Amino acid sequence: MVAGVTEITIRPDLGGVPAPQHVAFIMDGNGRWARERGLDRTEGHRRGVETVRTILECCRTWGIRYSTLYAFSTENWKRPESEIGVLFGLMADYLEANLPKFLRDDIRLHLLGNDEGLPEPALTNLHRTLEQTRHCDTWHVLLAVNYGGRDEIVRAARRMLEDPDRPTPSELDETRFSAYLDTAGIPDPDLMIRTSGEIRLSNFMLWQLAYAEFVFVPEYWPDFDEARFARALEEYARRDRRFGMTGEQAAGQGA
Ligand code: FPP
Repeated sequence: MVAGVTEITIRPDLGGVPAPQHVAFIMDGNGRWARERGLDRTEGHRRGVETVRTILECCRTWGIRYSTLYAFSTENWKRPESEIGVLFGLMADYLEANLPKFLRDDIRLHLLGNDEGLPEPALTNLHRTLEQTRHCDTWHVLLAVNYGGRDEIVRAARRMLEDPDRPTPSELDETRFSAYLDTAGIPDPDLMIRTSGEIRLSNFMLWQLAYAEFVFVPEYWPDFDEARFARALEEYARRDRRFGMTGEQAAGQGA
């Protein structure tokens, strides 16, 4: 999906189960990857961008239409200023370098999170890519930046209260409320993958992950590659997704 990436040569064996439509990633472990090699934490983030390229290429090759990447949380502002600077620098460079590729491959970028206070030039590059890829619809990349699941729900509630066409209390339901979330119009993730062995959600897509399958892998994000991603998808394909129904009902609905 992105320039300079070797072609994806393997294919997961999903045993006839359709590939997930939407996979969300918590890209964790960049700092530990670097520290264990005696490197500065920021080297881990640099390597993490390489993994982003590979994983997005996998998604396109394997027919996964929506990919979400948790790049910076509302809590990440507590990190040292220098690390924050490097992270947004990497993001700015990535967006600038890959805009032609996004347009060529018909990839639309979406923002999850609050863009207020994002540093330049990341903010400008983000808005340029959001604007210029608006018409793209074959593939969708959702970048979660300055994102927190609780913050998103509060911002959605605020948007709804400010909307002159808001639903009345009796009209309000999950579908109506979803339209005010950052993910309005985008299907919920089928699968969430977190790297680095941490088994928690860290305020990520609290609403949207209600029925997702979770796969936690021990590898740090810079070591997460196409083979490991394929195995995570194979594990997903073996899961029994029932959405609250009995096994027989779910099988009848092709779940
Ligand atoms: C978590 O590892 C990773 C992050 C907070 C940042 C992820 C960002 C990138 C991979 C690069 C920029 C993104 C794009 C889309 C170009 P950590 O630092 O918390 O690792 P640790 O838990 O080992 O300290």
